[in-house]
Amino acid sequence: MNEIPAALTAEELLKIALPVAREAAATARRMRAEAITDVETKSTLTDVVTAADRAVERQVINSLRSARPGDGVLGEEYGDSAEPEPGAVRWILDPIDGTVNYLYGLPQYAVSLAAEFDGVVVAGVVINAATGDEWTATRGGGAWRAGRRLRCSERTDLSQALVGTGFGYDAKRRAHQGAVLARLITKVRDIRRFGAAALDLCAVGEGLLDAYFEKGLNPWDHAAGGLVATEAGATVAGLAGAPPGLDMVVAAPSALFTPLHDRLVELDAAGGA
Ligand code: IPD
Repeated sequence: MNEIPAALTAEELLKIALPVAREAAATARRMRAEAITDVETKSTLTDVVTAADRAVERQVINSLRSARPGDGVLGEEYGDSAEPEPGAVRWILDPIDGTVNYLYGLPQYAVSLAAEFDGVVVAGVVINAATGDEWTATRGGGAWRAGRRLRCSERTDLSQALVGTGFGYDAKRRAHQGAVLARLITKVRDIRRFGAAALDLCAVGEGLLDAYFEKGLNPWDHAAGGLVATEAGATVAGLAGAPPGLDMVVAAPSALFTPLHDRLVELDAAGGA
């Protein structure tokens, strides 16, 4: 990886991201309090997008454009808004991760904003817009929440692990994910499905979950939360040496990673639709 230009550190990128993400979380919260409008479906009938998802994304893109005009932004709702110049930063944004929770008023939805340089995520912030809780991380600078440096769990035994996961919106994918889970749940302490991948990854960073895995996540779901988990000491990767991506994201303390990884391979967790 090229070094980030000396004038631009990961900490500086985080400093830019933080107020932008806070304003975004405030907009999401305010729009929910006023009314949820324009609920449309995307990939399937259960995959929803609200006016707030779009408004928050537009707001973040505008703020980032005025702060750093040359940067690219990859967002969940509008895709790539601008091709980054070579050597430029790309921001990766989920305006509201946990849109179904947002729709129902379950207090588990978040703004997730990461800065990537040369294909490597170097700074990230995740804000639970319902509660205001914030998680931040910079590459090599640790993961933090409310002034406290985070450490992931020290669990080593899969049978004692509390494992988070999530499901895609496509019925065929869910059928496979459900079948995998049916065989995994007897091998772990228990399973949790909270409904916002970015917050799940922060929960691994904080040790509130021992581990997490999911197939089908997009970069905006895992970029910022993945950095939080990594900087808190967890291993965040795909299966068989692959980077975290659409096929699989696994986040776990290093001693737990291999047993969970191997069990997921055995269950063909990255397979199916
Ligand atoms: C979804 C959430 C959910 C996960 C899904 C994601 P969205 O993101 O993170 O927890 O299971 O795979 O698509 O659609 O609410 O932004």
